[in-house]
Amino acid sequence: MNAGNAPAGISPWGSAQEVDYPALFAEFGIEPIETVLPEIPSPPAFFTRGIVKGHRDYGIIAKAMREHTPFYVMTGFMPSGHPHLGHLMVMKEVVWHTRMGGKGYIAIADREAHAVRGTSWEQCRKYGEEYLRCLYALGYHGVSYYQSRNARLQDLAFEAAIKVNFSELTAIYGFGSDTSLAHPVSAITQVADILYPQVDAGPAPTVVPVGVDQDPHLRLTRGIAHKLRMFTVEDRGDCISVRSKNAPEEAVAMVHRAFPGSKRYEGHIDVKGPPYERVADEVRGIEQARGGCAFYTPSSTYHIFMPGLQGGKMSSSVPESLFTFVEPDESVKKKVMNTLTGGRATVEEQRRLGGETDRCSVYLLNLFHMVEDDAELGEIHRACMAGELLCGPCKKATLERVRAFLKDFRERMDAVELPGEG
Ligand code: TRP
Ligand code: SF4
Repeated sequence: MNAGNAPAGISPWGSAQEVDYPALFAEFGIEPIETVLPEIPSPPAFFTRGIVKGHRDYGIIAKAMREHTPFYVMTGFMPSGHPHLGHLMVMKEVVWHTRMGGKGYIAIADREAHAVRGTSWEQCRKYGEEYLRCLYALGYHGVSYYQSRNARLQDLAFEAAIKVNFSELTAIYGFGSDTSLAHPVSAITQVADILYPQVDAGPAPTVVPVGVDQDPHLRLTRGIAHKLRMFTVEDRGDCISVRSKNAPEEAVAMVHRAFPGSKRYEGHIDVKGPPYERVADEVRGIEQARGGCAFYTPSSTYHIFMPGLQGGKMSSSVPESLFTFVEPDESVKKKVMNTLTGGRATVEEQRRLGGETDRCSVYLLNLFHMVEDDAELGEIHRACMAGELLCGPCKKATLERVRAFLKDFRERMDAVELPGEG
């Protein structure tokens, strides 16, 4: 796909490159995860080990988890190939959020896969089922749907499309005159995916766990969610200002009536006294009562990508860089035993200098997925750096963990009974 003038490393259909996260986050206004970490109840490894690095508006999700109020977790998978090691992280993130009380939504992005990757509908269906099997095997419960079979989603995409023009798309994605219409269509479908939970089950905060390459879609969606609101509610310090964007007259009158003593001006109402959140909730209720969607602007988290087993990037176009969950044991073994290590040229040197975990894919495989216990991971790190652990035994131990994981995971996948759509 033509990435045009899209910033390097952040095109949804481009290839993943080395990404300078702090620079990227600063450029697009993504917050480092540290700003919200203390608010997250018992944060799991993907937060504490530096895998999820950034977020947008995650505070509202952390609050919903702490206070047991409704929220959604939604993400999508493009069924253009078998699910693999590189998809596991986002699956774990989704499942954890559902355990924390979030209602789950999974989109199988078959329209995107068909339009952008040319995957046949039949293949989309098969791969889609594999993704769902993985998710359910990991403990997912919630809604799932195929983009191509969800008429309400398609209606929502159409409504959303009314709020976007080509220069916005060009600014966000770098679309040019040679861009296939498949890309804007996929983008607006993804916008609908992200807003769908709130249309399906009512307005509530929504978190979308993704890799940073998907952030353009989030920026587009957040803009559209805002444009589809009837009102903007703003804390002005001395008052809360409720500004009508395209609210019908009765809705404006209802807001005015809801807050005795509020002042009504041309285009906005100033409310003094009640806290921001009460005003925002009340306005959202009025908007809904008048047939509006009253969207919460969606939140997101951004994880880093695990590098390929061979170093370089993990991609299904490089089979040695990953294993799928349906791969034969022999092949998995070969790949794990050939994984790039941070070992030294000779055993003597490694005993003396220690290994280099920060350029070791074996270590990262353990850090991302195979060692849950922090103390155990810490011990591998220590022993490696101290030159006590050598790469041969370390890889063997990792292979054993991979085998145990895959055995259990496959059994669970086989036992999954896929629910109907909806
Ligand atoms: N475009 C995403 C990908 O390439 C898949 C996707 C579709 C998605 N709909 C979504 C991701 C909604 C997050 C939210 O993997
Ligand atoms: Fe990597 Fe293990 Fe070798 Fe250390 S001992 S460099 S962690 S493979």
